[in-house]
Amino acid sequence: TTDSSVLEKRIKMIKNEMKDDLFIPGHHYQKDEVVQFADEMGDSLELAKQSATKTAKYIVFCGVHFMAETADILSSNDQAVILPDLRAGCSMADMASIKQTEKAWTYLQEIFDDTIMPLTYVNSTADIKAFVGKNGGATVTSSNAKEMIKWAFKQKERLLFLPDQHLGRNTAFELGIKLNEMAVYDPINECLEYDGLYDDVKVILWKGHCSVHQLFTAAQIESIKQNDDQIQVIVHPECPFEVLEKSDLSGSTRYIIDKIDQAPPGSKFAVGTEMNLVNRLIDTYPDKHIQSLNPFMCPCVTMNRIDLPHLAYALDCVYESELLNVISVPNQTKEYAKMALQRMLDH
Ligand code: 13P
Ligand code: SF4
Repeated sequence: TTDSSVLEKRIKMIKNEMKDDLFIPGHHYQKDEVVQFADEMGDSLELAKQSATKTAKYIVFCGVHFMAETADILSSNDQAVILPDLRAGCSMADMASIKQTEKAWTYLQEIFDDTIMPLTYVNSTADIKAFVGKNGGATVTSSNAKEMIKWAFKQKERLLFLPDQHLGRNTAFELGIKLNEMAVYDPINECLEYDGLYDDVKVILWKGHCSVHQLFTAAQIESIKQNDDQIQVIVHPECPFEVLEKSDLSGSTRYIIDKIDQAPPGSKFAVGTEMNLVNRLIDTYPDKHIQSLNPFMCPCVTMNRIDLPHLAYALDCVYESELLNVISVPNQTKEYAKMALQRMLDH
C-alpha cells in the first residue's frame, strides 16, 4: 500500500543518515516487512553474541522482550536498546516469575540439599537469568543446550531446567538421561510431579512450554508420512517429546535453516517451527518442497507484534532523539544475569 511505501522510505532514510549509530538485529521469526530492514538476522544465540560486540549507540531490537533485555545486559552502558512494541513478550518466559522460582528453589533445596545446578533457557526474564547467575548457573539456547547440560553435570548431581520443559526433556534424553530420571516442577501447584525415589532424579524440568511449538503433534507427523513417505520431518526441540520421537530430525533454528539449505534440490521437508520462518524457507528454496508440519501454520503472536508501523515509529523517535520503549535492566539484575550469560558465551 502507499502507507507502507511511505514508512519504508522513511526507514531507509533514517538508516542511511544514522549509519553505524544504529543497529537493527532481527530474529528469524520476525515478519518479512521487518526482516527487510534488519542489519543482521539470527537465532537467539547469534543475536546474544552480536549484542555483546556491536558498538552502535542505538539497538532497535526486532524480536521479543527477553531478547531485548539480553541485548541490554550484554551491551555497554552508553548504548540504548529499544523494543519497537512493548507488547512483544513471550508466553514461555512469562511462565516462570522470580517469586515462583525463589519458592521452587527453597522447596527443591529442602528435598535435594545443595545438589542442584540451575540452568535457564535464554527465553526467560532478566530476573530469572539473574537468579540463575547468582546461584552458579548459566543460560542456554536451543543451539547449545546439550553442551550446557553437560557443563552443569560436571559440577552438580542434578539440574533444574527453566522454563521450557520440552527443550529440557528432549536435550537431557538425547544425552542419555532416562524419562524416569526426570521430574517436573509445577509452579502453579508448587509441587514436584514424580512418582519414583527422589534419589534417582537427575533433571527437574520447570513446567513451562512454548505456545507455538506446543501446537505440533505426533498425529500430524503420522498423517504427513502416510501421504508421503519421502518427506522428512524436521522440528525445533521446543516441541513435545512425542513429536521429536516421531520426527526425522530435530534442532535449533540455526540447525533447521542449515539442514534445509544443504539438502539437495527436490528434497521434501515438513517443518515444525514458527510460521514466518517456515514461509521464508518456502520462498527461499523454490527447488525444494517445504511445508509446515501443522496445516494451520503456527505464528508467534508476540513476535508478530513488531510490524512495519511499530518499527518506523520507534526509528522515528530514535532519529528525533525522543527515545521510546527503552529496555533498561536494573544494574544489580544486570550484573548477575550477565554472569549466567557469560558462562554460556564462554563455551
Ligand atoms: P532459537 O532462536 O534459540 O532457536 O529459539 C527459538 C525461539 O523460540 C525464540 O523465541
Ligand atoms: Fe516465546 Fe515461543 Fe514465541 Fe519464541 S516462539 S517468543 S518461545 S512464544
